[in-house]
Amino acid sequence: MTSRLDQKPAEPLIVQDLVKTYNISGQSPVQAVRGVSFSLNEGEVFGLLGPNGAGKTSIISTIVTLETPTSGQIFVNGFNNQIDSRAAKQNVGFVPQEIINHGYFNVEEILDFQSGYYGLYKNKERIDYLLNELSLYEHRNKKVKQLSGGMKRRLLIAKSLVHSPKLLLLDEPTAGVDIELRSQLWEFVKVLKKQGVTILLTTHYLEEAEFLCDRVGLLDRGELKLVGETKDLIRKYTMRKVQIKCRNQIEPLEFIIKSGEPIGELLLKEKLNVEAIEDINISEGNLEDAFREVIFNREDNA
Ligand SMILES: Nc1ncnc2c1ncn2[C@@H]1O[C@H](COP(=O)(O)OP(=O)(O)O)[C@@H](O)[C@H]1O
Ligand SMILES: [Mg+2]
Repeated sequence: MTSRLDQKPAEPLIVQDLVKTYNISGQSPVQAVRGVSFSLNEGEVFGLLGPNGAGKTSIISTIVTLETPTSGQIFVNGFNNQIDSRAAKQNVGFVPQEIINHGYFNVEEILDFQSGYYGLYKNKERIDYLLNELSLYEHRNKKVKQLSGGMKRRLLIAKSLVHSPKLLLLDEPTAGVDIELRSQLWEFVKVLKKQGVTILLTTHYLEEAEFLCDRVGLLDRGELKLVGETKDLIRKYTMRKVQIKCRNQIEPLEFIIKSGEPIGELLLKEKLNVEAIEDINISEGNLEDAFREVIFNREDNA
């Protein structure tokens, strides 16, 4: 049976009205995801952002069928993940937030076994590529317990990619990793994007989202509050701070202008003498400023 949406090339991921409620006996139910809808365009990096407990992992776990949705539907590359779960899973790579220990096997064996799950018994070329790309080649004969935390995380990423999935889900890939590994992972995400892989990542680091993500969605207590292009959100919701130091003035003049507003207009409007300007310092808003504006100001006004 197949329920692939065949009319047009399917989006890599569609999440429709997803609700996830955890029922634990004797406790009141936890509504982790409260009707979330979004979809991913091919080849983009999409960031699902939100504080701890917002529901990010619940969404990711439901996409990879580790959890069943309470209601709602998910399509991976056109396949309904509840109905055609095999086909859906074949198209996804998944890097969990928690690092799990793999007892007795070494790095290369783990990647071999993982390939076997997907029916890939001659996958050495791909495995070697991933080992090299993730700086694991020299550690390929080590057992997992001999690996550092950073190496374990890189192994998880290699594992998620053995079958060359078109969609990669990264759940908090840089939580608790050092700066060097973080920048290595960021570079690798860019490499994968260049290869055409669509990426959904969750993070609570807005700086990371700003650097990596074409679009972001802000998740707050199980609800998607805002989805948009990262650059647009910054342009729309933040201001530029312009400091102009003129000759004969001790303190620089300070102006707050709209994100897209040209500096020239400001100089004209303020009738500033260009010859007297010694220095101009402009600071742009960032994603954090944009979210603060959206979350706090909107809710305060509501
Ligand atoms: N397996 C589970 N059983 C019960 N509650 C859960 C389970 N997983 C997550 N939760 C709860 O659901 C909410 C969302 O958690 P989670 O999806 O892990 O958020 P995030 O990944 O954004 O930190 C939290 O209140 C969390 O305690
Ligand atoms: Mg999480």
